[in-house]
Amino acid sequence: MYVQRRNIARLSLVVATVTVLTNSNILKTEASATNPNINLQQHPRWFDRWATGGIKPGVAWDMGSPSPALQKAIDSNTIPDGRALVPGCGRGYDIKALATSRRYVLGADIVPKAVDEANVYLKENNVSPQQGEVKVLDFFQLSTEPKDKFDFIYDYTFLCALDPSIRDDWAKQMGNLVKPGGELFCLIFPINTVLKTGPPFAVSLEEVKNLLEKEFECKQLEMLPKELCHKDRDGANPNLGASGIGRFVKK
Ligand SMILES: C[S@@+](CC[C@H](N)C(=O)[O-])C[C@H]1O[C@@H](n2cnc3c(N)ncnc32)[C@H](O)[C@@H]1O
Repeated sequence: MYVQRRNIARLSLVVATVTVLTNSNILKTEASATNPNINLQQHPRWFDRWATGGIKPGVAWDMGSPSPALQKAIDSNTIPDGRALVPGCGRGYDIKALATSRRYVLGADIVPKAVDEANVYLKENNVSPQQGEVKVLDFFQLSTEPKDKFDFIYDYTFLCALDPSIRDDWAKQMGNLVKPGGELFCLIFPINTVLKTGPPFAVSLEEVKNLLEKEFECKQLEMLPKELCHKDRDGANPNLGASGIGRFVKK
């Protein structure tokens, strides 16, 4: 009975999301899922994770702040201005960190609860909608029209949140969404040889490079030193994994 009720609740949430997505003008009009795993396997899991009570700041994947590696790139002014996207943005720390008067940042998360939490966080931190917004959006359904493409995309623990069977779809959509000459910045985590299941699903520098090489030039690919990693993401504990950085320019 409980399982049945939970499934009905889950279905209602999915229907609600589809309605929101259908009404948005920044989405593709056709159904996204050329690979059925994208929609059928992934979404319910994330609805469950964000369900009542949510993910508290600093708990599970929520680190409570942007990564030191992203902050360093922002401080050294190496991130393109223009339109930026943070897919699977969670509470939206990276949106606040990236948003400026010269850079509009769109956060996309599939779960309404995550989007609500992120909007509270952005409001509390005085991020105006002109500079940063979070919307209920499925990364795989974002519009790839030329006017909707991005100068910069930041992926942090989004790739590892997806089932490995849809990694090629992730790479293809990244290629569709970044403008020629624009940048895809990946913080690659967890680099881990112990982890056999997920999420998070283990990733490696080489796999990310191979996924992206058709559409992107690689300008940086390396492991991150401890001081540029979030706590417990520097590889000191092999069960948790290490972090790397990959910066790719769209051909
Ligand atoms: C591991 S969490 C990472 C959140 C955030 N990047 C951070 O570092 O705190 C992955 C997030 O991706 C979202 N997500 C999963 N599939 C998605 C999809 N297809 N489109 C947009 N967001 C998605 C989940 O709801 C979840 O908030």
